Amino acid sequence: MKFFIDTANLDQIKEAQDLGVLDGVTTNPSLMAKEGIKGEANILKHYVDICKVVTGDVSAEVVSTDFKGIVEEGEKLHGLHKQIVVKVPMIREGVKAIKYFSTKGIRTNCTLVFSPGQAILAAKAGASYVSPFLGRLDDINQDGILLIEQIVRIYRIYNFKTEVLAASIRSPLHIVRCAEAGADVATCPLSAILDLLKHPLTDIGLAKFLADAKK
Ligand code: E4P
Repeated sequence: MKFFIDTANLDQIKEAQDLGVLDGVTTNPSLMAKEGIKGEANILKHYVDICKVVTGDVSAEVVSTDFKGIVEEGEKLHGLHKQIVVKVPMIREGVKAIKYFSTKGIRTNCTLVFSPGQAILAAKAGASYVSPFLGRLDDINQDGILLIEQIVRIYRIYNFKTEVLAASIRSPLHIVRCAEAGADVATCPLSAILDLLKHPLTDIGLAKFLADAKK
């Protein structure tokens, strides 16, 4: 399973990259706003700055909601850097745009997916990635992991090439459950990746080894 970091914060992206386990980055307009990145020129520059830090795919989201606007915006984002994947919302015009991009060889990440039916549409349209948001389903008392399992099962039956990018991950347990479910990618906050390191028996064992080494 690939690890993407879900942030627009360059320091956190560098930290994950330094750890040696980073395969890519996902962003969204809320994450860009959180970093105070405003205005088209600054936003486009920031995507290029992210691409300079990582070697893998970087999802950059369109904000248009009509076919023509999504295509224009997506082509601009695609032209920025070869690592850019155009992130498109799961709406009617978005599905049309994903199909258009797939015929042009432009890679896409279909975002805001909350049902297996939406994931089937994304795959049929030729999305490179589908992003089911498991944390937001958990938030409304639905089991997000079940959705990941369902999509993985359906895609395997039909040999869809779209990669399952588990999104809206909130905890290290989510990451492990996504790995068990067979997700191709988990996009996570840095804290969830670092929390995978933790186990009290590791800390106790290391303290003992270091103390014994001094004897
Ligand atoms: C996915 O690509 C989204 O950017 C993200 O995972 C959403 O996560 P959130 O529900 O924590 O905002």
